[in-house]
Amino acid sequence: PATARRGPDGEIRVGGVDLRAVAAEFGTPCYVIDETDFRSRCRRWRTAFEGATVYYAAKALLTLGIARWVADEQLGLDVCTGDELAVALRAGVDPARIVFHGNNKSDAELRTALQAGVGRIVIDAFAELRRLAALGAELGVRPDVLIRVTVGVEAHTHEFIATAHEDQKFGFSLAGGQALAAVTEALGATSLRLVGLHSHIGSQIFDTAGFEVAAHRVVGLLRTIRDQHGIELPELNLGGGVGVAYTADDDPVDVAEFAAQVRAIVERECAAAGLAVPRLAVEPGRAIAGPPVLTVYRVGTVKPVDLGGGFVRTYVSVDGGMSDNIRAALYDAAYTCALANRRAAGEPILARVVGKHCEAGDIVVRDTFVSADIQDGDLLAVPVTGAYCRSLASNYNYLGRPPLVAVRDGRARLLVRRETIDDLLRLDLGDDLNRGECT
Ligand code: LLP
Repeated sequence: PATARRGPDGEIRVGGVDLRAVAAEFGTPCYVIDETDFRSRCRRWRTAFEGATVYYAAKALLTLGIARWVADEQLGLDVCTGDELAVALRAGVDPARIVFHGNNKSDAELRTALQAGVGRIVIDAFAELRRLAALGAELGVRPDVLIRVTVGVEAHTHEFIATAHEDQKFGFSLAGGQALAAVTEALGATSLRLVGLHSHIGSQIFDTAGFEVAAHRVVGLLRTIRDQHGIELPELNLGGGVGVAYTADDDPVDVAEFAAQVRAIVERECAAAGLAVPRLAVEPGRAIAGPPVLTVYRVGTVKPVDLGGGFVRTYVSVDGGMSDNIRAALYDAAYTCALANRRAAGEPILARVVGKHCEAGDIVVRDTFVSADIQDGDLLAVPVTGAYCRSLASNYNYLGRPPLVAVRDGRARLLVRRETIDDLLRLDLGDDLNRGECT
């Protein structure tokens, strides 16, 4: 987080708050969000994309409080389920500033979105297009919609989070002609107002080359639409995907530079196609929510393992793991960690930070160095855990999901409290019928 500093004892402070105090008050593991950092990232995106719409991608991290910060900072919100939509509406987000995504929206979700007056719906399949048109007619509304286009870009990121190559579930294929067919059908549907195209090429991307190819291809489609239908669609949503630095190996992306490049690319492509420049939209999730959060863990066991050949790897077990951050296990994601309660006094030793779950793949930080004097009771902070950690958290092994604590100006407050075993058991009805019958 931007406001993280070392205090006089070598302890880490975020937003002026000592992480030892956070651990004492709220327990560990605990997600700590630097509100100032989160809000300033919102502002940086808004300023860099002045005149465009910035939708914060709620899937990265969504709570009522976060939704309110986002709305406060005048960003829109990207939701991709009826439940994310429900959270946004409960938080009081203006429905007109919401874009609704998803490759398998149910009738009930579409109906809720229409009744709430959601600003944009991104259509992902022919069946959805027809169902939405029918619902619009039934409810007497005419939603603004975009067609999600699969542009055929191989983004340089992990296979599970690349979304614009042909062989995956999202969007209408451009090369296959489905995108144009979907546009034609949407233009013919009197209960839909087609306002633009959408493209999202993947996540954790550092290179604008992918966006460049995507822009080239969607603008090509805008041109075909103009040529065939005599209509210039006014909006172009280029999705999210801007990468963040998890370790020193990654170079952080400068938002202003990224925005300038994207605008230049779109302007150039539109000029070449003889089109007016459409209103742009982007949907950053990770770039806003990732860096302002760190996770505080308490160290339990420290176990040196002889790797042979004179190599030793020290396994440092913490009190959470893949249930609060599955990204290393799922995407082979790299993280770092730092001793949070004191100054390190030992030599750096090769270590792996692991969780307390019952499987060997339960890794938080695969390769790192920790101080040789690390011991049980120490606090470890793992930075850049704001995006896709809490939102992908599980109750594996019946661990309750950690609290989310906001820090600002020397004060800490709970945004979401810790989940307890009672919370989990409340959902479990047991099996009264068989009670006492099993021996
Ligand atoms: N827009 C759309 C349509 C998306 O599908 C996504 C992410 C975003 C925007 C936001 O992308 P971002 O700016 O956060 O990269 N769980 C994975 C990431 C999945 C991304 C899903 N879609 C991870 O932990 O890396």
